[in-house]
Amino acid sequence: LLVNASEASARKIPDTLFGIFFEEINHAGAGGLWAELVNNRGFEAGGPNVPSNIDPWSIIGDESKVIVSTDRSSCFDRNKIAVQVQVLCDHTGANICPDGGVGIYNPGFWGMNIEQGKSYKLVLYVRSQESINVSVALTGSNGSQKLAAANIVAADVSSWTKVEILLEATGTDPNSRLELRSSKKGVIWFDQVSLMPTDTYKGHGFRKDLFGMLKDLKPAFIRFPGGCFVEGDWLRNAFRWKETIGQWEERPGHFGDVWNYWTDDGLGHFEFLQLAEDLDSLPVWVFNNGVSHHDQVDTSSILPFVQEILDGLEFARGDPTSAWGSIRAKMGHPEPFDLRYVAIGNEDCGKTKYRADLYDFHIYSSASSVFSNARHFDSAPRRGPKAFVSEYAVTGNDAGKGSLLAALGEAGFLIGVEKNSEAIEMASYAPLFVNDNDRRWNPDAIVFTSSQMYGTPSYWMQHFFKESNGATLLSSSLQANPSNSLIASAITWRNSLDNNDYLRIKVVNFGTTAVNIKISLTGLGQNSLETLFGAVMTELTSNNVMDENSFKEPNKVIPVKALIEKVSDNMEVVLAPRSLNS
Ligand code: AHR
Repeated sequence: LLVNASEASARKIPDTLFGIFFEEINHAGAGGLWAELVNNRGFEAGGPNVPSNIDPWSIIGDESKVIVSTDRSSCFDRNKIAVQVQVLCDHTGANICPDGGVGIYNPGFWGMNIEQGKSYKLVLYVRSQESINVSVALTGSNGSQKLAAANIVAADVSSWTKVEILLEATGTDPNSRLELRSSKKGVIWFDQVSLMPTDTYKGHGFRKDLFGMLKDLKPAFIRFPGGCFVEGDWLRNAFRWKETIGQWEERPGHFGDVWNYWTDDGLGHFEFLQLAEDLDSLPVWVFNNGVSHHDQVDTSSILPFVQEILDGLEFARGDPTSAWGSIRAKMGHPEPFDLRYVAIGNEDCGKTKYRADLYDFHIYSSASSVFSNARHFDSAPRRGPKAFVSEYAVTGNDAGKGSLLAALGEAGFLIGVEKNSEAIEMASYAPLFVNDNDRRWNPDAIVFTSSQMYGTPSYWMQHFFKESNGATLLSSSLQANPSNSLIASAITWRNSLDNNDYLRIKVVNFGTTAVNIKISLTGLGQNSLETLFGAVMTELTSNNVMDENSFKEPNKVIPVKALIEKVSDNMEVVLAPRSLNS
């Protein structure tokens, strides 16, 4: 491999090249990155229908003791449904309540992760014609072990009353549930029941462990909130930003009909912009352009959509005194968000004849096809709109639920992206997250449950590229490449922690045999040669190319570092079969 480090042959890589794409798919947000523990907090999952779908809320007690139904009596105009709990039993008399009382419980998203020593903020709205004594508890999954408890005792809740309680957990169970019970005959209505851990990232509502996995990738941008999620199968179920801002209690929520689940939209337009800021990434807002999978507005009726988008821009970027900017300011962010990029719809590129600054490119294919697409942009025009590779991944049999083989195909492709970054502005893997209890798409970069998580090899592969944004691409060429199974690139980048310049060479060996490779560095200059003091080789490989990580073996396929003993401008390294190396 010849690497020429002279300035004359070098070129700057765009600051924005590698980022992430967050889509509300696989419960990535609701039941994932968004830390809300109550699933269907407003009893609204059926949408505006009565009776609505209170799933996964369940009833504690049989029909002789308690009747649970819904009606439209909520104090929130945009989500009118509330749950009515009719307690038929009492402490005394003919119909005695079971121990602990009767009521409802919410199991969260396949179990709430309650951890000893941590606190959880419960907010709910309650109404009754009589005085109430409701016991609130966080319990283990079968309701037996109490991890936190409190009582709501009130003489007069004849109008809707907001209750806030801080619950301190005295035990740990990743499969807990929230119970609301009473042993007093009467009718109680509940609405907008929320339980949030208090230790979210900066108190912004993001689950810290999952947020950390994103931050570690140093993403230059974050594209959100989808994908197909933005379009909807039908326009009536598309993500519409205005429905997702303001007080969480007042958000109507919506049924994402492509990935088939309800979201309360706690993670809304504001929170996505906040997420981008917290990640030090540029937000890329994908908005619905009047097109869904099965219907679309007629061009003559598109103006309300255009206005909605302009309002969304004002919400993000406008002065805090502007109409929509002031709502953002009221939500706690007077400073404008740094929104510079928007994407018009999803996968509709074929439909526009108008020139855009960037054009969207998606690739999902087999490992060898994605690997060989490293050359796809070799002949792409260097002038005019650049590509936004906003979704790439190896899929199908080669990928399983996230194989080494998939990661190698993608790494090869990204080396091609890096080398062609004159014609490409941005690239992001898809999808980012999967809650293991609701796999709608395989594979994904980060797998999690209520309490666990791991990165697939494709997640770790992205770590090899996290220094590339804004780095300098050096000219590099492989002098021999039998069966085209190798691909390589070289960059220099400055580490802001120690202010030193580093050289990073990446090589994918997609072949099945080990390769001895000689790396010849030219153009380094005498000073740099003298300070070429050490080198580390990082390798992503495994015994079997179909190996995957799992909750049991989260570190089976992760980057492994080793010191290179003999460092020189002419050194030899061995590339393992089926490996990514840097
Ligand atoms: O990444 C999953 C889906 O693939 C996205 O929603 C869509 O844009 C693409 O078809």
